[in-house]
Amino acid sequence: MSALLQLSGVSRHFGGLKAVSGVDLSVERGEVIGLIGPNGAGKTTLVNLITGVHPATTGKVSFAGKDVTRQKPWQAARRGIARTFQIVQPFPEMTVLENVAAAALFAGGMAYGAHAESAALEHLRFVGLADVAATRAATLTLAMRKRLELAKGLAMNPQLLLLDEVNAGLNSSEIDHALTLIRAIAARGVTILIIEHLMKVVLNLCSRIVVLHHGELIASGDPQSIVRDARVVQAYLGRRYADASG
Ligand SMILES: Nc1ncnc2c1ncn2[C@@H]1O[C@H](COP(=O)(O)OP(=O)(O)O)[C@@H](O)[C@H]1O
Ligand SMILES: [Mg+2]
Repeated sequence: MSALLQLSGVSRHFGGLKAVSGVDLSVERGEVIGLIGPNGAGKTTLVNLITGVHPATTGKVSFAGKDVTRQKPWQAARRGIARTFQIVQPFPEMTVLENVAAAALFAGGMAYGAHAESAALEHLRFVGLADVAATRAATLTLAMRKRLELAKGLAMNPQLLLLDEVNAGLNSSEIDHALTLIRAIAARGVTILIIEHLMKVVLNLCSRIVVLHHGELIASGDPQSIVRDARVVQAYLGRRYADASG
């Protein structure tokens, strides 16, 4: 069976800047894959290329065996590609429940109505936000907005979920909760690509890690080999993880 997601020689230039450069990456169904790299490495741009926010300058993106290089974000959503945003952006004047139902609507899963709302409530229960379902999204704390992003992603009924720094700014018990949720989502069979700075999270969750540096994919492998990879240590990790992992 072919890979769920396949990037072949994908680049994205902004003027003279090569934000993503010649990336080849194949993601199998059911994988939980970590995407790491320094700030400005091109991680979010890569997610934008996969979800049709920015078209690739060159190269090809395939999803479930289909060429989706030129797709629009709503087409990505309908195909089963969902993403969370690094900068969380709920509709502030809508309730938490309406935000989740709107995500389902965007993915074309259902029309707005009682059924959409009960499905949305189910996702809110899953992430632990059922109590605030009727609250305006603008009033949520950062940790709650991150969980709302997860619920919105799930409401799109994705095959592939792209998580862009869902743990940034959370405290350690909030991160533990998020880890439990992400593991439960993976257990449902959703393929996950997670952009994450916290190595604790990446090492806990991911069976494979890929590393971007200056837009180029410089390494791909199992966590233990990545933390020992000389280029990765040099570009991003420093010595601490190689030493700590024994
Ligand atoms: N829409 C854009 N227009 C111009 N430059 C951009 C745009 N988006 C990202 N960049 C640039 O591309 C590079 C990679 O950014 P980004 O993908 O956000 O990195 P990361 O998520 O790894 O921190 C950065 O130099 C950034 O300034
Ligand atoms: Mg980013």
